[in-house]
Amino acid sequence: MEIQFTVAIVGGTGNLGGALAVRLGASGVKIIIGSRDAEKAKQAVETLKPSLRGGEIEGMTNPAAVKGADFVVIAVPYEGHAQMITDLKGQLAGKIVIDTVVPLNKGKPFVPPAGSALQEAQQILDGEAPVVGALHNVSAVDLSDLDAPLGDVLVCADNAEAKEKVTEIIKRIGARAFDGGPAGNAYVIEGLTGVIIYLNRKYKSKHGSIKIVGIGD
Ligand SMILES: NC(=O)c1ccc[n+]([C@@H]2O[C@H](COP(=O)([O-])OP(=O)(O)OC[C@H]3O[C@@H](n4cnc5c(N)ncnc54)[C@H](OP(=O)(O)O)[C@@H]3O)[C@@H](O)[C@H]2O)c1
Repeated sequence: MEIQFTVAIVGGTGNLGGALAVRLGASGVKIIIGSRDAEKAKQAVETLKPSLRGGEIEGMTNPAAVKGADFVVIAVPYEGHAQMITDLKGQLAGKIVIDTVVPLNKGKPFVPPAGSALQEAQQILDGEAPVVGALHNVSAVDLSDLDAPLGDVLVCADNAEAKEKVTEIIKRIGARAFDGGPAGNAYVIEGLTGVIIYLNRKYKSKHGSIKIVGIGD
């Protein structure tokens, strides 16, 4: 399959990042797994390789990973979010940032001072690159299983062109993607994950996700 673009996954050694790499690989994308530790990134790549059905994959430090990327997925816990965006600032011009981060404290959602994680990234980057929120409500367990059906994805951003491009990527990985509105909607979409975490615990599941009905059926 022809490689058309490169996606760096910052925090790609984690649950969501690894699962996303499997899905992106199947769609023929080049993936760069980023980590705070280059060796950990390389090990993650070796672990992921047997699950990849296509694409190319490499592992390196987060700053090195974003260098050659067209899209930069932020997949770190909220505790490291602001610092990570701050550290990457200056290297993101010409790229699209995909923010998956949910502000959680011990599994419970909260609204951060900027209004949402997405808006926090926007504030820090100050126009250097568009930030698009996506994938908050999917299950990493389902994402890592190419045969599992995925929940729907709400994609939100202030930059319409970037939002459209990210929507296309989400469709390539096998999910239905919907325009979730501007960045101002992100706190709702991010917070919904807190409810999904509650549901997963209550009903003993790892597959909780959302489905939009009545639109695009
Ligand atoms: N898991 C899901 O199902 C899911 C679904 C939707 C959205 N999300 C969101 O996706 C993000 C990642 O979730 P996850 O479950 O993949 O998290 P995770 O496995 O706990 O962490 C992901 C990676 O982030 C890096 N990291 C950890 N703490 C950090 C810090 N303080 N600063 C910088 N980097 C740090 C680690 O990589 P290195 O040690 O290699 O640097 C780690 O492997 C979260 O914000 C979460 O809310 C998760």
